Amino acid sequence: MVDPLAIGVDVGTSSVKAIAVASSGAVVASASREITFDTPRPGWSETDPRVWWRACCEALRELRTMPRVAEAPICAVGLTGQMHGLVVLDRADEPIRPAIMWNDQRTVAEVDALERELTPAAIHEMTGNRMLAGFTAAKWRWLLRHEREHARRVWRVLLPKDFVRLMLTGAAHTDVSDASGTLFFDCARRRWSEEMCRAIGLPISHLSESFESSTPSSRVDAQGAAATGIPEGTPVVAGAGDQAAQAVGSGIVNEGTLSCTIGTSGVIFAATRQWRPSERGVLHSFCHAVPDAWHLMGVTLSAGGSLQWIRDAMCGDIVQLATARGVDPYELMMAEAQRAPLGCDGATFVPYLSGERTPRVVSRPAGAFAGLSNSTTRAHLIRAVIEGVTCSLRETMDAVRACGVPTDIVRLSGGGARSGWWNQLITDALGCPTQVMVVHEGAAHGAALLALVGAGHLPSVEIAAQRAACGPISSPSPSAREWEGIASRYAQVAGLIAQ
Ligand code: XUL
Repeated sequence: MVDPLAIGVDVGTSSVKAIAVASSGAVVASASREITFDTPRPGWSETDPRVWWRACCEALRELRTMPRVAEAPICAVGLTGQMHGLVVLDRADEPIRPAIMWNDQRTVAEVDALERELTPAAIHEMTGNRMLAGFTAAKWRWLLRHEREHARRVWRVLLPKDFVRLMLTGAAHTDVSDASGTLFFDCARRRWSEEMCRAIGLPISHLSESFESSTPSSRVDAQGAAATGIPEGTPVVAGAGDQAAQAVGSGIVNEGTLSCTIGTSGVIFAATRQWRPSERGVLHSFCHAVPDAWHLMGVTLSAGGSLQWIRDAMCGDIVQLATARGVDPYELMMAEAQRAPLGCDGATFVPYLSGERTPRVVSRPAGAFAGLSNSTTRAHLIRAVIEGVTCSLRETMDAVRACGVPTDIVRLSGGGARSGWWNQLITDALGCPTQVMVVHEGAAHGAALLALVGAGHLPSVEIAAQRAACGPISSPSPSAREWEGIASRYAQVAGLIAQ
């Protein structure tokens, strides 16, 4: 008999990825489509939700033509995607305006107003979090204030992956992990917060029913099947926000094992088996994709993004050389950075190029170099960027420790984990053992694992997460103690900026 496959779909920021996974959890095939988002004004990020759906249809149709996928039965689909977006639909389920995305910073005034009206303590009491410009609640208030006509026509408020679900199945559903990032979800009780909805003027009737992540809550309908090639009637599980799905794929479901993922952003993710919100919302405290589990999460918005910035701003010759040699420019940049000493002779970089969310809140672009001298070279600057991002992750790790969560080992993944040298710096700076993920297919893989659980091929999300393959354990080196000084210098500069 042909092994059935589960499909995971990740509605990302710059691409939509579809992946087919065998019942063992092994990845069989994947297809993706690049997408772009619009920045109609500085600090704004928008996408027409139909762009996600089109990319999703194309990626799924391509996946269905691939050798090991074409003939195989599909047991279930799992959806994941970028969190915190605001998708507003009218009664005909047509988008009223482009979706306002997670990295949009237009709502600074709404955050201030909500904090004044409700108080940060009451917001924390209702949601376990602090109000931030990127979160959906502030976007809804922005819509009410600036686009009254649009707000009047709203029939549904959805998250990005849930728009794709609506197109695929006709069902307006969401999952508890993604719902957590709206800030109108009561994470402790795993249901919408009526109080918070009332406080921000959002009729609860606009919201979708929420489910635990591996629940098969709907099925592909005839239209969805015709558009994607996924057979009609295939179950679709509730899925998860991209970070929770990624954590499932990295095996982060129990306390003590954390992940550190460096892509454009850098995320430290810790699962908790009890509701233990971070004090004053210093970290995000959301529901996990595992029933009866939650997570703490800190996000450095520009992690790999800072390295990309310095590559584009100062390393044109390195990029040319790398192209000529057929190697990755980041490899040559890492080699150059190693010419500067640990601590960069005092040069410090703070990676707030797109502002920051945790553990300090900065709602404007505010990246900075400090401590430069006549002897500062480009090697120092590149190294300072790497050390600055690392310090920011260390601050998040300290905040996780302050919540009383055990930090026995950290699993490293994402583009940043390709450099063994940077991995050792992170191991030293975080002060705990690390392991690099061997196979890491990101959030789409986690969504497919959730689908396998929903279809009954795996008994639980915990068992699914055991499929994560990791390399050998690295321990902090003797240089680890030097990070005290580097981190305290960084904290001084970051503290000044965040004031
Ligand atoms: C999580 C977050 C990002 C987005 C985009 O809080 O903001 O992970 O979901 O990937």
